[in-house]
Amino acid sequence: MKKNKFSKNWIIKQKRDVYVKQSKIEGYRSRAVYKLQEINQKFKILKNGIKLIDLGAAPGSWSQFISKNFKNSKIVSIDLKQMEEIKNTYQIVGDFTDELQKKKIIEYFNGKIDAVISDMAVNTTGNKSIDSIVTGELSVDALIFSTDILKKQGCFVSKIFMGPSFNEIIIIAKKKFKQVNVFKPPASRKDSKESFIICKYLR
Ligand SMILES: C[S@@+](CC[C@H](N)C(=O)[O-])C[C@H]1O[C@@H](n2cnc3c(N)ncnc32)[C@H](O)[C@@H]1O
Repeated sequence: MKKNKFSKNWIIKQKRDVYVKQSKIEGYRSRAVYKLQEINQKFKILKNGIKLIDLGAAPGSWSQFISKNFKNSKIVSIDLKQMEEIKNTYQIVGDFTDELQKKKIIEYFNGKIDAVISDMAVNTTGNKSIDSIVTGELSVDALIFSTDILKKQGCFVSKIFMGPSFNEIIIIAKKKFKQVNVFKPPASRKDSKESFIICKYLR
């Protein structure tokens, strides 16, 4: 499909989408917030006082939701793009895969944390296999990083795409965590190959 036709279809879908409407009413910056809410309803990953990293956080709806609903949370939100401020979050503009950024995150917390959540996705090329592989690499990088910084009881959540890298991620996740689930929240568009991996309890 040509890019401008693709964009037009996207705009039409956005206008009809109930999650987009709801996010505007509730003051969230993205409909993505409902994916996190649905993941949390099912897997109970969030709590008051949580120490957490939000990877690929922009425009910021996941961080907004946690900051607003979980008291005394300590959140690092990182993205390549600049975000508007969010209460109780420490924002980093940069590439998460850059070792310098990882060092910055580790120094900020100065100890183990409860959760690493990642909604990172690369700009789509239109080639679903390539998009899946590149986003898969980001997810593996985040997973490996999470094993260094999480508490034993900690939790890792990441967007993954059905595609060539899917099985590889599941295999690595099962080696590192005792509990691994794959879940497609109802708010995730049916025609998207996106799902989420939810991993708990480090081995
Ligand atoms: C789907 S959006 C995230 C939406 C977000 N969860 C929210 O609720 O607003 C994906 C984000 O991943 C970011 N991203 C992609 N690669 C990244 C990287 N290497 N480091 C940091 N952020 C990255 C993109 O810039 C983009 O903003």
